[in-house]
Amino acid sequence: CEVRPGPEFLTRSYTFHPNRLFHAYQFYYEDPSCQKPAHSVLMKGKVRLRRASWVTRGATEADYHLHKVGIVFHSRGALLAVAERLGLSQASQDCARRLPPAGAWLPGAVYELLGAQAEQDCAAALGFTMHELSLVRVQRHLQPQPRAPSRLVEELYLGDIHTDSGGETALPTHGYSATAERLQHHSHPCLVCGLVSHADEHHPPVLPPPVALALRLQGRWVSSGCEARPAVLFLTRLFTFHGHNRSWEGHYHHFSDPACQQPTFTVYATGRYTNGTPSAKVRGGTELVFEVTRAHVTPMDQVITAMLNFSKPGSCGGPGAWSMGTERDVTATNGCMPLGIRLPHVEYELFKMEQDPRGQSLLFIGQRPTDGSSPDTPEKRPTSFQAPLVLCEKRAPRALGLMPTLSAHVQGLAAGASLWRKAVLPAFGKFLVLGGWGTLQ
Ligand SMILES: *[C@@H]1O[C@H](CO)[C@@H](O)[C@H](O)[C@H]1NC(C)=O
Ligand SMILES: *[C@@H]1O[C@H](CO)[C@@H](O)[C@H](O)[C@H]1NC(C)=O
Repeated sequence: CEVRPGPEFLTRSYTFHPNRLFHAYQFYYEDPSCQKPAHSVLMKGKVRLRRASWVTRGATEADYHLHKVGIVFHSRGALLAVAERLGLSQASQDCARRLPPAGAWLPGAVYELLGAQAEQDCAAALGFTMHELSLVRVQRHLQPQPRAPSRLVEELYLGDIHTDSGGETALPTHGYSATAERLQHHSHPCLVCGLVSHADEHHPPVLPPPVALALRLQGRWVSSGCEARPAVLFLTRLFTFHGHNRSWEGHYHHFSDPACQQPTFTVYATGRYTNGTPSAKVRGGTELVFEVTRAHVTPMDQVITAMLNFSKPGSCGGPGAWSMGTERDVTATNGCMPLGIRLPHVEYELFKMEQDPRGQSLLFIGQRPTDGSSPDTPEKRPTSFQAPLVLCEKRAPRALGLMPTLSAHVQGLAAGASLWRKAVLPAFGKFLVLGGWGTLQ
């Protein structure tokens, strides 16, 4: 069950055909567990891969065109909620006439928002677009399995969904938002994948109740893969929370490539956090306040080392030269301006914990604002989540690192547009979008 800014709750299933046509379902829900379907949107269109992105390495820019968008309401209440959203502007008032009056609503009827008979694009007026298809990437990796051989997982990453909600208008997108696993490659049965994949606009998937866990941060949490952020950053994260004195430590390992193999710099930050209070806006979420009071920086490549060496004196650490691979404390200079680290710093956070079907504890941390800023006021507190971190086992904390990737393949994808396209096109098939992908930090 994905949570988008707003918050909106949805599941998605996209099918790509070899002739570039695609059809997509977006199932919307009233609740954060995706158990009460509100309305379903079906879209048909065409997508064309254009060229390797200059901004986000490893990604391909794409054009898409929607031929048809329809909406089905699963309750009268859902119709009223959508109609209310339309009552706001003149253009959308015209669109409101496409929807039936609440009294005339027919369960199962498909109302066309865009298509042969619709002279106006009412899908966009309602915020149903496919801007996420402007940026695509497919990646394969081996996922370790408890007590079984690793399995090959293929994931689809799509463009970022902007956190300022109200319409996904800003283009082009520079980050990835979503991770989808290709159903065909699930040797291991995935209950939710099956439900979403077999659903249609008349039979929206109803997900099983999540195994919600009370927020217990104690322990070490790591990224389960290479994460992407909008400002063209790739990183892995490792957090340690000390419950008894309410302090935390974070290691942010930054990389220049989407496989997280070429390190650029590492930030180690520590501070304190408050007691959590249940979120009124996002059910199941907990609001906390984090304080960052100390930070250390380690440059990991020549470019960053030189940049720090030549930065304004006093802007990042005390006097003295930087050298590659050597950590320095930047607390006394209130952070490190060249890297955008300011101290002391406060963040208004949203967390939640869940357990995945394999019994692994997952920690969801709030999505970062798309403009690259941080949630430093209560108003900017996130309403959606990044890709979850996983809890390290108590006895054998694994070193922070990625799951083994098929490096040759992944590097091939990142290496050039032609190779990348060859890799992507035959890979088209049916994708299920399983979770959010962070725009992090
Ligand atoms: C909190 O406890 C941990 C582990 O016991 C320790 O490493 C850390 O320095 C403590 N932090 C503060 C702020 O006291
Ligand atoms: C950083 O400065 C030191 C001292 O001036 C110098 O020896 C070193 O080569 C510089 N490193 C880089 C990467 O510029």
